[in-house]
Amino acid sequence: MKELHFGVDYYPEHWERERWDRDALLMQEMGIQMVRMAEFSWHKLEPREGSYDFGWLDEAIALLGKYGIYTIVGTPTAAPPAWMINKHPEILPVDREGRVRGFGGRHHDCQSNPVYREYIRKLVTKMAQHYGENPYVIGWQPDNELGNSHQELCTCASCRSRFQDWLQKKYGTAEELNRAWGTSFWSQEYNDFSEVYAPRLTVTGENPSAMLDWKRFCSDLIVDFTREQAEIIRKYAKNQFITHNYMGFADKVDYYKLGELLDFVSHDQYPGGFYLPRTPHEENHVLAATLDVVRSYKNQPFWIMEQQSGITGWEIMGRAPEPGQLSAWAMQSIAHGADAVVFFRWRTCAMGTEQYWHGILPHSGNPGRRYRELQDFIQEVDPLMDYMHGSMPRPEVGIVFSFEQEYAFRIQPHHKDLSYTGQVQKYYRALYEKNIPVDFVSEEGDFKKYKILLAPLQYLMSPELEEKYMDYVRQGGHLLLTMRTGVKDRNNLCMTERELPGRLSEVAGIEVLDYDCLRNAEVEVLFHGRKFLANIWSDLMRLLPGAKVLAAYASEFYAGEPCITAHPYGDGICYYVGTEPGEALMEALMDEILSRAEVDSILPPVQGVECMFRENDRERFLFVINHSGQEKCYEAPQGYQMLKGLQAGCLGAYETQILKIEKS
Ligand code: GLA
Ligand code: ZN
Repeated sequence: MKELHFGVDYYPEHWERERWDRDALLMQEMGIQMVRMAEFSWHKLEPREGSYDFGWLDEAIALLGKYGIYTIVGTPTAAPPAWMINKHPEILPVDREGRVRGFGGRHHDCQSNPVYREYIRKLVTKMAQHYGENPYVIGWQPDNELGNSHQELCTCASCRSRFQDWLQKKYGTAEELNRAWGTSFWSQEYNDFSEVYAPRLTVTGENPSAMLDWKRFCSDLIVDFTREQAEIIRKYAKNQFITHNYMGFADKVDYYKLGELLDFVSHDQYPGGFYLPRTPHEENHVLAATLDVVRSYKNQPFWIMEQQSGITGWEIMGRAPEPGQLSAWAMQSIAHGADAVVFFRWRTCAMGTEQYWHGILPHSGNPGRRYRELQDFIQEVDPLMDYMHGSMPRPEVGIVFSFEQEYAFRIQPHHKDLSYTGQVQKYYRALYEKNIPVDFVSEEGDFKKYKILLAPLQYLMSPELEEKYMDYVRQGGHLLLTMRTGVKDRNNLCMTERELPGRLSEVAGIEVLDYDCLRNAEVEVLFHGRKFLANIWSDLMRLLPGAKVLAAYASEFYAGEPCITAHPYGDGICYYVGTEPGEALMEALMDEILSRAEVDSILPPVQGVECMFRENDRERFLFVINHSGQEKCYEAPQGYQMLKGLQAGCLGAYETQILKIEKS
């Protein structure tokens, strides 16, 4: 079978049966090769308890199949029907304020509830038995955007008792739990696991150790919820894949762990945002980072399961994508490692919450500007996707990304403007704007393949991770560590044995003796004789022998003291950044680190033009994407062959060129 690259999210159940043939024909004429269906249609599949009706879906799958279009089946467990909720209201989730959330949206379910799990097992078994060998069904998506709409998930009685079991398994005894959570503070000791609560809103403050375990528990619950479905599907659908539509940096479930259940990861990419004003040059790096982090979750090519295809919006809408912009966004997904792009959605829905989340077709169902643009796009790009099959971006710079660090900073952000993901994206941005491709890598991942490894805010530390960083530098790596590293153990208790950053001071060549949280303040920094600004935080440190000052503070009571340092260690170098560099300082610092590690831009940067590459063992494919509505010029490299585009070096509005370069 030919590799499938393009699809749409399709909801035939929202339209009259008479329309379906025209949809299938229009899809075929556009080059659509697959659809995702059914991920919210529980009631249509099981209108009454135990009475199943798969007829409509069978018919849709068969009809599309006749047009050469394959199906990905979604399990509809994000939308339990009213008959079920009325019979078992305990399925409804309970929020942190103790309020039961009602029926009428979606994801109105408690993922630990045993009754709900039983309904799911029955339906998913029926579906897997029914579609597991259907030749037109190629794969499955359990649920939809797991963790979306769940806020802090559910604090019902079922979740509370499951949390207690989870803790008992982790800690064994109540004494150990008390130690790990530091419960002697404010008399929070437990005599028994059965006394522990799911964290409801308190009168004041929260125990950071308890909250960290709660977040881990919620993530594990989502993984367990998915595993149950995945196991059923695998039993009956041996030749069909399982994937799930992720949401980039969303933090409700550890996507690395969820990925272990999946054949490949998918992601939903909405560059237009929701109703935010469109600020392309501000946001392109976030879009790119989002795609790169998705690639990192399984460290392999991924799919886009929902790619924006029109104006976004529920109650309030975003801007209309300009001609060519949808294509540029889809190209960006491909450049960063997507092997397939499924557009959300086929036709703009006439009813329900998402009437204004626009599809390829408008409400009228008549093909218009978006249809024609994406039709041309697919026709041109599909053969190239076949050609580039098996290629992947292979960056020389890695940025460590960790869900646990994210959880810990959500619990205690330190400063109102500090977020872990935001900080990671600031480092990313400096590289993005220099056309330096980046991989994200988990704490468990392979650091050694990167010449440079940036590890901002390594707040929760373990002896193993310390050793891994030290080893990386010893063997020649260029490591960047920052403020708030090694502050806590994995229970979210403060480390006390040594000055910060703990044992990592040996590799960093500094000790942090004091610090300043820059509330409503900036600090001046002197770097290579130039003054810059930095924010959020100042570490006040003492140099250890061998370390050098790269930049020093130039204001506040610590003016003249080290702010950024470099320390040769083994065959490598460790940089320590005691603050959050402002944009200009970040840029200058990255220049220094890149040149010391001999990492080059893939092309000289041009504002609004993104460069990315994918490669296999023989060839490198260079993507040059114009994210702006104006013509742009760039300096084409030597010795290329044009795969897409006419004149290398000159880009029309929103044009993408792909250049093929033989590897030596
Ligand atoms: C998400 C969901 C879709 C749809 C779109 C648009 O990405 O997965 O079901 O709701 O957003 O709102
Ligand atoms: Zn619950």
